[in-house]
Amino acid sequence: MAIMQETKYIWKNGKFIAWAKATTHILSHGLQYGTGFFEGIRSYPTPEGETIFRLQPHVERIFHSAQALGMKLPWNKKQIAEAIIATARKNKVSDCYIRPYAFYGYQKVGPNPADSPVDMIIACIPLKDYLKRDFIKVTLAPLARIAPSSAPHGTKISGMYYHAALSGLYAWKRGFDEAIVLDHKGYVAEGAAENLYMVKHGKIYTPPADTILPGITRDTLMTLCKDMGIPIQEKRLTLKMLQDADEVFFSGTAVELHSIGQIEKKKLPRKNPITKELCAHYMDVVHGKVGKYKRWLTWI
Ligand SMILES: Cc1ncc(COP(=O)(O)O)c(C=O)c1O
Repeated sequence: MAIMQETKYIWKNGKFIAWAKATTHILSHGLQYGTGFFEGIRSYPTPEGETIFRLQPHVERIFHSAQALGMKLPWNKKQIAEAIIATARKNKVSDCYIRPYAFYGYQKVGPNPADSPVDMIIACIPLKDYLKRDFIKVTLAPLARIAPSSAPHGTKISGMYYHAALSGLYAWKRGFDEAIVLDHKGYVAEGAAENLYMVKHGKIYTPPADTILPGITRDTLMTLCKDMGIPIQEKRLTLKMLQDADEVFFSGTAVELHSIGQIEKKKLPRKNPITKELCAHYMDVVHGKVGKYKRWLTWI
């Protein structure tokens, strides 16, 4: 996993401050109870300059996560979008991972955050390859994903990411690159922080949206597959189906598209023609080389 590189400025509550000054109190509610949420967005260089990919759905998800936490952000969607663009512009970095994060500050004792102050930051760091190896090795995480009835769907609430953290740690300790997690019914759900796909006989299958975080990259791929004539279908998947697949890959804003070369001890075929074709097209789209999808780009 990539090491975080510092940049100059962080947007905090409407103002730019130096990276080193972006601190908070140790008793902040968000730190104690995980009552914050984050977003992960990418910018890419294009022939016409640096752009942010699919900013609008990320802004929508920011407000969805805030609402799930009962958090009232003192900015509207347009102001948050402008703040994200301004942060990327001010830091003058290319190929950047943008991290908005909002959390309850400290005020009261106990887990109910009602009336607590809200702090929001936007940071921006250079990020090229999230995963270093080409065909990664994945293992099955010991803990199933948080059940849909126990977490607000489609949000990126920080507290929920203890699960991704433990899954990743488990994989790393066993010499794997990443973990895949089962849902509460024992079907394969996704990666620790990535959506998951398998290809069999020329068709892509991916778990239904109800037990996963239905990613923005996943949504992008659904559209691209339709245009490219690659059949893609939601389906409950088992570990055995993945291990018998022709191709298996992850998607996500950070990971982009990444082929999986091994699941537990089972080595997978490495030709991966469909993943390669889709990945090449995705990278062309994010880099502004496909006219039709320039509508997904916001110029910095
Ligand atoms: C649990 C989980 N699944 C899937 C994804 C992929 O989502 P996206 O494509 O919106 O980055 C992420 C990343 O945010 C994630 O944390």
